[in-house]
Amino acid sequence: MLAIDEKTITDAALDQMASTGNARLKEIMAALVRHLHAFAREVDLKPEEWLEGIKFLTAVGQKCTEFRQEFILLSDTLGMSALVNALHDKRASGEITKSSLLGPFYRQDSPALPLGANIATKGKGPETVIYGRVVDSTGMGIPGASVEIWQPDDEGWYDLQLQDPSQMDLRGHFHTDADGRYYLRTIAPTGYMIPMDGPVGDMICAQRRHGYRPAHIHFLVGAPGYRELVTALYLSGDDHIESDTVFGVTESLVVNISPHDPASPLPGLPSIQYDFQLAALAGDAMPGRVGADPSQIVQKAADGGH
Ligand code: BEZ
Ligand code: FE
Repeated sequence: MLAIDEKTITDAALDQMASTGNARLKEIMAALVRHLHAFAREVDLKPEEWLEGIKFLTAVGQKCTEFRQEFILLSDTLGMSALVNALHDKRASGEITKSSLLGPFYRQDSPALPLGANIATKGKGPETVIYGRVVDSTGMGIPGASVEIWQPDDEGWYDLQLQDPSQMDLRGHFHTDADGRYYLRTIAPTGYMIPMDGPVGDMICAQRRHGYRPAHIHFLVGAPGYRELVTALYLSGDDHIESDTVFGVTESLVVNISPHDPASPLPGLPSIQYDFQLAALAGDAMPGRVGADPSQIVQKAADGGH
């Protein structure tokens, strides 16, 4: 008879799980159990503390709806999303644009728009142009690449957080021209606080963190034969550029708004120039998204994960 104690329990759990059919699932679950047990031993976890943790995770799940994803927020604020992105980037070959967070406000089915269109349907704030190319790792333009964009408004709110979250604003997707060029109009976003009215917000307060994200604009860029890129551009000069609550900022993604750029397709407007560089697909056709449209995650969970 096996004597279960604080040392033997880990091997006992791993032995039971050894029959897992899917080899990758087996590897992931075994590592998870080893690290989870090591964590409990390291902090000498008390029953009431573990129950607090279970209550916290329960509250995180209960906060999720088709318009809100508290688990992604938790992953983001613990640095887990940024870590998974960094590992994803490391697997690409050649020069590529770095990944950044998808975040909890991505929504699929944003409107398809012609090049040059304005995604700010409410027209709040001065127009700003974003333009550049989508290129491969050698710098060659990729024609017909999809450039999907979403961002908060001039007060830091996404459409999903407004009164009628079914109305889309400040989102759209574009396709590059024959040279891989894109351009669009929008307004400059401001920085904002991550959603603080839930268990993740309580955690941030308990940790005495400020909770802000610096001003940024999200992009999902893709083309057949290339790895999908989830990234964001961060506006230089923001007070929180060095202390993003979700660790999304990296130097190569920081941009300036140029007041008069003669190279811009609309030189009379302030503009941001950025080229997105995609990695060629090398067998790994998995999407690079840490997250999804919240409605899809809720739906998948309701369907039992299938
Ligand atoms: C966002 O950029 O949309 C975001 C990312 C992580 C947490 C909250 C918001
Ligand atoms: Fe964001």
